[in-house]
Amino acid sequence: MGVPILEISDVYKNFKEVKAVDGISFSVNSGEFIALLGPNGAGKTTTVEMIEGIQKPSEGSIRIMGLNWDHHEKKLHNLISLSLQETRFIDKLRTWETVQLFASFYGLNRARVDEVIEIVGLTEKRKSFVENLSGGQRQKLALAIALLHDAPLMLLDEPTTGLDPTARREIWDILMNLKKKKNTSLILTTHYMEEAEYLCDRIIIMDKGKILAQGTLDELLSANNSKEIIEFSTKDAIPDQLFCGQDVYKLIRDENTNRTKLIVKSIVEQLPVFLQKVKESNVTLLDLECRKLTLDDLFISLTGKHLAD
Ligand SMILES: Nc1ncnc2c1ncn2[C@@H]1O[C@H](COP(=O)(O)OP(=O)(O)OP(=O)(O)O)[C@@H](O)[C@H]1O
Ligand SMILES: [Mg+2]
Repeated sequence: MGVPILEISDVYKNFKEVKAVDGISFSVNSGEFIALLGPNGAGKTTTVEMIEGIQKPSEGSIRIMGLNWDHHEKKLHNLISLSLQETRFIDKLRTWETVQLFASFYGLNRARVDEVIEIVGLTEKRKSFVENLSGGQRQKLALAIALLHDAPLMLLDEPTTGLDPTARREIWDILMNLKKKKNTSLILTTHYMEEAEYLCDRIIIMDKGKILAQGTLDELLSANNSKEIIEFSTKDAIPDQLFCGQDVYKLIRDENTNRTKLIVKSIVEQLPVFLQKVKESNVTLLDLECRKLTLDDLFISLTGKHLAD
């Protein structure tokens, strides 16, 4: 690690008045796995597509091993492998023929085709027409194609969205094996916190085209000064007086469910104050939970949104 394979500086992408990507900078080191985490419309796909050369930035610079799409298109095709958020295959081709077609672009042989089909667990389906594959099997097919040519930079746009838990685990295992080899850097976009936590060295949280936070899981959580959470729901709407005079860093309230999260510095110090306030304001607590801040809490506190699942 330590050598940047990708450097993104001050990149913007506008679609008319929509600022899809609004001034982002980050770099990825060799062998590093990065998660781009963000709600719908955050700008994740636009970001990866600019790195892939599918979209051109409105402003800013993207360099992959020092090269850029304006001057080194041919070389860059060999340095990058990818799977798109939605891949359209040719329905009347069989699984192996589809992989073979992509393999031919890279001059790879039939043995490699069979190998990647085996890695993603589609050997039984190798003779099936693509139109007869399930949604999850198509995603595995897209991953097989991304794995084909051992590129130093791989980009996967939501590789496990919509998969059942078993299939998701299988894909995680494949990517973990790839990580152990240490010669591929990966950027994956996801809505799943667990995926980002499990697979990735660093997490970049995006919303509305901007990077809100980035770092290792520990860095993200400790940057928030080891904050803690008191979470509760109440029978009725919560009176504002409940929060008066409390030492709360942030309050996240869901008016529909009467569920509230208080981000506090210390549960030990704050909980007695909180319970006293509950008593004084005659609020009926339905449940009460105290815990350390998680990535999920951090995400909601940064974006005000849950990740769409
Ligand atoms: N070709 C386009 N023309 C116009 N607007 C676009 C285009 N592509 C993306 N956008 C807009 O840019 C914003 C970012 O979209 P993008 O697809 O990058 O989000 P995303 O984070 O990948 O979301 P999702 O999680 O839903 O896949 C959205 O507001 C989207 O409507
Ligand atoms: Mg997307």
